[in-house]
Amino acid sequence: MKINLPQTVVLTGASSGLGRHLAGSLLEDGCAVIGVDVVPAPEELTAHPTFVPVSGSVDSEATWEAVTSALADLPDGSLGLASVAATLVQGSATEISVPEWRRAFDVNVVGPGLAIKHLQPEMARREGGPMVFVGSVDATYGEEALVAYCASKGALRQVVRASALDFGRSGIRCTMVSPGPMTTEMFYKHLYSSPDPEALLATRVGRQPLGAITDPADVSRVVAFLLSEEARGISGVDLVVDGALTAGYEFRNIEMDAGSDRS
Ligand SMILES: NC(=O)c1ccc[n+]([C@@H]2O[C@H](COP(=O)([O-])OP(=O)(O)OC[C@H]3O[C@@H](n4cnc5c(N)ncnc54)[C@H](O)[C@@H]3O)[C@@H](O)[C@H]2O)c1
Repeated sequence: MKINLPQTVVLTGASSGLGRHLAGSLLEDGCAVIGVDVVPAPEELTAHPTFVPVSGSVDSEATWEAVTSALADLPDGSLGLASVAATLVQGSATEISVPEWRRAFDVNVVGPGLAIKHLQPEMARREGGPMVFVGSVDATYGEEALVAYCASKGALRQVVRASALDFGRSGIRCTMVSPGPMTTEMFYKHLYSSPDPEALLATRVGRQPLGAITDPADVSRVVAFLLSEEARGISGVDLVVDGALTAGYEFRNIEMDAGSDRS
């Protein structure tokens, strides 16, 4: 099925992982993409004629001023936001510093808030549009040694819900997509911070009812759907894409039980 995407999508975190994947697929589907990131975009994106890179941090007003001026140079069509950028601050509350707490909230909460602040007027002028924010299952569940990340993703979900109410009457839909573990740089960074990454990976895979760590391509398709006209009845929701990881809490599986009598 062909879906109807906005003509232009502002996408944060476009240079890596999920954002890079999403940028590639939106460009392939004919969108112009304004890609915001602190690191340069890969050539596969910059070589595309409708990719516009903006270099800067999502928590800086100057970055969003650069985004709005890039928007002014593009045709005045429909507009969407995919807020994907985030930072992973690792550690418990006894381990992380005040600047680390602030970095987690600046990038993961204030950044998306500034995206809304700067894009809402443009979107309202164009009679609305979709804003999709990538959260995490850690918005709902705790994860060891990720206290600031979990707290920031929980706060982001409330930004999304409140904004769905604040801006719904101007036709703006705010939604969140919450992945479980995904095979991206962020996941491997967390994995390799463990003394035994292979054991951690085996545990993680063993807990996935669908049998694998989620592919970013599968999350990217869900974000694209929420950006599309076909999702125009959906706002204020948190859509979980985790391969059923958070459908339950019991991680005993068939392989563990091999040879035993489960009856
Ligand atoms: N990988 C996972 O297992 C996982 C699980 C749940 C949720 N998520 C979420 O998915 C989203 C994408 O993560 P990913 O796994 O692709 O990570 P990633 O590290 O591969 O990509 C994140 C991108 O965001 C950019 N970025 C970081 N700080 C920024 C800032 N201040 N301003 C602008 N850009 C910035 C990075 O440079 C990078 O290009 C994030 O919101 C993350 O929290 C990831």
